[in-house]
Amino acid sequence: MLKESVIEIHRNINKPIAAAVGLPNERYTSDEGFIEDREKVIAPSWACIGFVDDLPEPNYVYPVDFMGLPLLITRDNDDVIRVFHNVCSHRGMHLADAPCRTNGLVRCPYHSWTYQLDGKLRGTPHIGGFGVHEHPEFNKAEGALREVRTETWLGCVFVNLSGTAEDFQSYIAPLTRQFNELCSVDERQRFVSDNQSGRTQLTVKSNWKLAVENYLESYHLPSVHPELNRISPLQEHFSLDYFAQGAGQGSLNYQRLSIDDKQLPNLAGWPEDQMNKALYPTLYPNTLIGLHSDHLFIMMLQPISKDETVEHVRISYVGDDALDSQYTKHHKTMLDNWSEVFGEDIFAVERMQKGRNSPGYLGGKFAPAMDEPTVHFHRWVAQCLLRGSNTEPS
Ligand code: FES
Ligand SMILES: [Fe+2]
Repeated sequence: MLKESVIEIHRNINKPIAAAVGLPNERYTSDEGFIEDREKVIAPSWACIGFVDDLPEPNYVYPVDFMGLPLLITRDNDDVIRVFHNVCSHRGMHLADAPCRTNGLVRCPYHSWTYQLDGKLRGTPHIGGFGVHEHPEFNKAEGALREVRTETWLGCVFVNLSGTAEDFQSYIAPLTRQFNELCSVDERQRFVSDNQSGRTQLTVKSNWKLAVENYLESYHLPSVHPELNRISPLQEHFSLDYFAQGAGQGSLNYQRLSIDDKQLPNLAGWPEDQMNKALYPTLYPNTLIGLHSDHLFIMMLQPISKDETVEHVRISYVGDDALDSQYTKHHKTMLDNWSEVFGEDIFAVERMQKGRNSPGYLGGKFAPAMDEPTVHFHRWVAQCLLRGSNTEPS
């Protein structure tokens, strides 16, 4: 049983920043807190669960375990991406357990019912007795896989598990408005990734929220990322405009990578006088973004348990030409550089997690000039918890 009421949490975090109190430890250290995050924070929002390039060709399926929920991403013959609960509608067997190319059907290994990649139940062998594959009382249309509301954006697959979130386009609208100042919607479509040039993953022994909190602020830059801070110093960072579903920071000193006097292609419409600008927003709950004129990275947080998170990273480049082997050195250097930066953050989030086991920590203090984005996230989480508990603040 969680000790602190959501009303209390909400009240404490909504005080002025110098007096605000962060989420209690149990929200980071208990199984119950983890399940509440899933049900009340993540399920009602739009969460990233994977990448379009996880499904490299048509007729492909890709199973994902997301906070204990078995899900299945499918790409059909017409390249339509869908997500279903990865469970057979007959006796509830976990359906697909590995990514694979299919012949357009997923077969349940138990009694061999088959499903199309749009979720429709196709084959029900022997359902009417040996050799009889139909039954007059069995309505196949009712045996389809349960579909989850799904959208794709910037090469990511998003789901709204509760089915109740606002429309995805309005969810991301405040963020896309900020992006539009640097590149148009059409231009952003040019970001492409493949299976080789920019993917990695890191496992951190920490609650997913600490990875978000760490990404939101640049305050730790000089101490945790001295090399990055030399190139893109703290004083050259700025806070992005907060929006309902996210916050973040940006840099005014991004330096494009140059190897052998060659740079990666960049987005044609990106304003010439803003080439050094980069945006690092977080789209709540779990999509961490780095937008630059010549590449885009996305870090998707896959919460595994209360104290373990896998960070899946994809780097995309501008147009198919940018994936060409002439840029292999660029791809490797870019991936190495970002991997180093992300790696430097591991000890920070892991030691915050350790600190959450201490009864001497009671939600902490916020640095008024530096921790605004962190407070914004805590308030968002508290609001989700409150809404999910059907409780009004007093
Ligand atoms: S449980 Fe899937 S076919 Fe029986
Ligand atoms: Fe960092």
